[in-house]
Amino acid sequence: MKIGVIGSGYVGLVAGTGFAETGHQVCCLDVDDRKIATLRDGRVPFYEPGLEDLIRRNVREGRLSFSTDVDAGVRESRILFIAVGTPQGEDGSADLRHVLDVARTIGQAMDGPKIVVTKSTVPVGTADRIAEVLGETTSHPFDVVSNPEFLKEGDAVNDFLKPDRIIVGTDSAEVRELFADLYAPFVRTENPILFMDVRSAEMTKYAANAMLATRISFMNDLANLCEAAGADIALVRKGMGADRRIGYAFLFPGIGYGGSCFPKDVRALLRTAAEHGRDLKILTAVDEVNEAQKLRLVEKVVARFGEDLTGTRVAVWGLSFKPRTDDMREAPAVVIIDALVGRGAEVLAFDPAAMDSAARTFGDKIMLCQVGYHCLKNADALIVATEWNEFRRPDFERIQGLMRTPVIFDGRNLYNPEKLRGLGFEYHGIGRPGPR
Ligand SMILES: NC(=O)c1ccc[n+]([C@@H]2O[C@H](COP(=O)([O-])OP(=O)(O)OC[C@H]3O[C@@H](n4cnc5c(N)ncnc54)[C@H](O)[C@@H]3O)[C@@H](O)[C@H]2O)c1
Repeated sequence: MKIGVIGSGYVGLVAGTGFAETGHQVCCLDVDDRKIATLRDGRVPFYEPGLEDLIRRNVREGRLSFSTDVDAGVRESRILFIAVGTPQGEDGSADLRHVLDVARTIGQAMDGPKIVVTKSTVPVGTADRIAEVLGETTSHPFDVVSNPEFLKEGDAVNDFLKPDRIIVGTDSAEVRELFADLYAPFVRTENPILFMDVRSAEMTKYAANAMLATRISFMNDLANLCEAAGADIALVRKGMGADRRIGYAFLFPGIGYGGSCFPKDVRALLRTAAEHGRDLKILTAVDEVNEAQKLRLVEKVVARFGEDLTGTRVAVWGLSFKPRTDDMREAPAVVIIDALVGRGAEVLAFDPAAMDSAARTFGDKIMLCQVGYHCLKNADALIVATEWNEFRRPDFERIQGLMRTPVIFDGRNLYNPEKLRGLGFEYHGIGRPGPR
């Protein structure tokens, strides 16, 4: 099958490469010349474990190509996946500008029947808007299908190749058959391909992200209560998760969720609700709790060192919104660092993958160190903001030798409080009682 993927970012590239991996002929298209040039050069423009090797192999075997010629890509493909960004608009809704631009481009370029698929996360009703645009720009027949993507950055290749489920929104029996065939190689262990109407498919993506965000905010809210009440959220989490009705996934307390999906998707769903005269009270609270949680560590730093942080040197480990990615979109670390710098602190930071993104984000506002330990020299505090594996078991003796005052703010509860206190550190976690 000839497949065109329009938008070659985290989702488009992974999906395009995944389809090529099962034997299809795929062209990944983008308007960003530099991105396409980088890809043609055999490099991936962002950090995603395992992706570069897979791309290289599929390019070498002639199944995967990259182009900025979107019109030609449209003409040559039977199925077109739209995987462009749907960032947060000014009122919180998903900004559909890129999606509708692509629909127009497809409509103008198509020279025969096409299946147009939204992989981008789009609000309920978007497929109808795409169909409208296509109807205005072409007389050729088309189907508009919703096929939301559930991959997570950092494990995207694995998620795409072995998804928990595939959601396909369509009313056409022919499209159903074609998608059953397209995805059959990915569901050999009987994970389901769920066919449904287009609107339910569009809604499913937001519902899933909203649920995951809810679990995180629920735990953060509870963590703050644990702290006040002298309980330890790490133990409470274990006790809760062992209940099979609850499970352990997404119960880690921390410094709030970030990234390119949860924050904007929660707000877009709230907007959709408002447009339909509904008030999603739980989700409103999820967003509020998350915004407050990003500043939780700053409050702790201020409580320890005072409102004015002039002359306080803070080391930050971890800048990406989560481990195994260089994505810093809506990363809590950015909010924390901005707040600390705003209070006069001197910030030195390190991340195993996001140093380029960090240089673009912060400019010369903070100092970036190429080695984690280098940030610690004469530091008054260390903040751990992302749970990269390499931060889990550091050389504490070395850390203590470097810091001016050995104070650790553990935003991800990576360390054992008793052990650290035993080693002479002042330890502050999330939702854990202070020293007894
Ligand atoms: N990143 C994730 O983990 C993830 C997971 C699931 C779903 N999603 C959804 O998938 C969509 C894409 O997300 P992403 O993170 O891959 O975005 P991204 O920003 O990494 O990539 C989007 C790409 O689209 C390109 N583009 C924009 N306008 C275009 C146009 N008119 N024609 C061709 N290309 C164009 C951009 O140049 C960019 O390369 C979003 O709706 C997002 O919510 C993302």
